[in-house]
Amino acid sequence: MVNITVEDRNGTQQQLEIPTDMGLNLMEFLKASEYDIMATCGGMAMCATCHIEVLEGLDKLGERIDQEYDMLDTLPDADDNSRLACQLQLKDEMDGMVIKIRGEY
Ligand code: FES
Repeated sequence: MVNITVEDRNGTQQQLEIPTDMGLNLMEFLKASEYDIMATCGGMAMCATCHIEVLEGLDKLGERIDQEYDMLDTLPDADDNSRLACQLQLKDEMDGMVIKIRGEY
Protein backbone atom coordinates (compact mmCIF):
# COMPACT_ATOMS: atom_id res chain seq x y z
CA MET A 1 0.00 0.00 0.00
CA VAL A 2 1.09 3.55 -0.68
CA ASN A 3 -0.45 6.87 0.31
CA ILE A 4 -0.93 9.38 -2.46
CA THR A 5 -2.63 12.74 -2.03
CA VAL A 6 -4.90 13.62 -4.94
CA GLU A 7 -6.16 17.13 -5.66
CA ASP A 8 -9.22 17.33 -7.87
CA ARG A 9 -10.09 20.11 -10.32
CA ASN A 10 -11.82 22.07 -7.53
CA GLY A 11 -8.69 22.10 -5.38
CA THR A 12 -10.00 19.57 -2.86
CA GLN A 13 -7.26 17.26 -1.61
CA GLN A 14 -7.82 13.72 -0.41
CA GLN A 15 -5.29 11.15 0.72
CA LEU A 16 -5.82 7.74 -0.86
CA GLU A 17 -4.47 4.39 0.24
CA ILE A 18 -3.51 2.63 -2.94
CA PRO A 19 -2.59 -1.03 -3.38
CA THR A 20 0.57 -1.63 -5.41
CA ASP A 21 0.09 -5.36 -5.85
CA MET A 22 -2.85 -5.33 -8.28
CA GLY A 23 -0.97 -4.39 -11.43
CA LEU A 24 -2.89 -1.15 -11.85
CA ASN A 25 -1.65 2.14 -13.21
CA LEU A 26 -2.54 5.43 -11.59
CA MET A 27 -5.19 6.32 -14.19
CA GLU A 28 -7.02 3.04 -13.58
CA PHE A 29 -6.96 3.56 -9.83
CA LEU A 30 -8.19 7.16 -10.06
CA LYS A 31 -11.07 6.12 -12.30
CA ALA A 32 -11.95 3.27 -9.96
CA SER A 33 -11.96 5.83 -7.14
CA GLU A 34 -14.58 7.81 -9.10
CA TYR A 35 -12.40 10.70 -10.15
CA ASP A 36 -13.56 12.20 -13.43
CA ILE A 37 -11.01 11.05 -15.96
CA MET A 38 -12.15 10.21 -19.48
CA ALA A 39 -9.19 8.02 -20.45
CA THR A 40 -10.58 7.89 -23.98
CA CYS A 41 -7.66 5.89 -25.34
CA GLY A 42 -7.85 3.30 -22.57
CA GLY A 43 -4.32 3.91 -21.33
CA MET A 44 -2.35 3.93 -24.59
CA ALA A 45 -0.77 7.37 -24.08
CA MET A 46 -2.81 8.66 -27.02
CA CYS A 47 -5.48 10.99 -25.57
CA ALA A 48 -3.89 12.97 -22.70
CA THR A 49 -7.19 13.11 -20.79
CA CYS A 50 -5.36 11.45 -17.87
CA HIS A 51 -2.97 14.42 -17.59
CA ILE A 52 -1.85 15.01 -14.00
CA GLU A 53 0.52 17.49 -12.45
CA VAL A 54 2.94 16.12 -9.87
CA LEU A 55 2.99 18.63 -6.99
CA GLU A 56 5.40 16.59 -4.84
CA GLY A 57 7.47 13.52 -5.58
CA LEU A 58 8.40 13.89 -9.23
CA ASP A 59 11.76 12.31 -8.40
CA LYS A 60 9.96 9.12 -7.36
CA LEU A 61 8.88 8.47 -10.94
CA GLY A 62 10.80 7.03 -13.84
CA GLU A 63 11.51 8.88 -17.06
CA ARG A 64 8.71 9.58 -19.50
CA ILE A 65 8.60 7.31 -22.49
CA ASP A 66 8.70 9.03 -25.89
CA GLN A 67 5.00 8.53 -26.55
CA GLU A 68 4.09 10.12 -23.21
CA TYR A 69 6.43 13.01 -23.88
CA ASP A 70 5.00 13.58 -27.37
CA MET A 71 1.41 13.48 -26.12
CA LEU A 72 2.09 15.94 -23.29
CA ASP A 73 3.79 18.17 -25.82
CA THR A 74 0.42 18.67 -27.56
CA LEU A 75 -1.14 20.19 -24.42
CA PRO A 76 -1.00 23.97 -23.99
CA ASP A 77 -1.06 23.67 -20.19
CA ALA A 78 1.51 20.90 -19.68
CA ASP A 79 4.81 21.66 -17.98
CA ASP A 80 7.83 19.84 -16.51
CA ASN A 81 5.66 18.42 -13.71
CA SER A 82 3.11 16.94 -16.10
CA ARG A 83 2.67 13.20 -16.55
CA LEU A 84 0.10 10.87 -18.04
CA ALA A 85 -1.42 8.86 -15.19
CA CYS A 86 -1.93 5.85 -17.45
CA GLN A 87 1.83 5.54 -17.89
CA LEU A 88 2.50 5.43 -14.15
CA GLN A 89 2.41 1.88 -12.89
CA LEU A 90 1.61 1.91 -9.17
CA LYS A 91 4.65 1.02 -7.11
CA ASP A 92 5.93 1.41 -3.57
CA GLU A 93 8.28 4.26 -4.46
CA MET A 94 5.27 6.50 -5.07
CA ASP A 95 4.44 6.71 -1.37
CA GLY A 96 3.94 10.30 -0.26
CA MET A 97 3.37 11.77 -3.69
CA VAL A 98 0.95 14.66 -4.19
CA ILE A 99 -0.73 14.98 -7.57
CA LYS A 100 -3.31 17.20 -9.15
CA ILE A 101 -5.78 16.10 -11.81
CA ARG A 102 -5.50 18.31 -14.89
CA GLY A 103 -6.86 16.37 -17.85
CA GLU A 104 -9.80 17.59 -19.85
CA TYR A 105 -13.22 16.20 -18.88
S1 FES B 1 -5.65 7.35 -20.83
FE1 FES B 1 -5.25 8.23 -22.74
S2 FES B 1 -3.31 9.07 -22.50
FE2 FES B 1 -3.69 8.16 -20.59
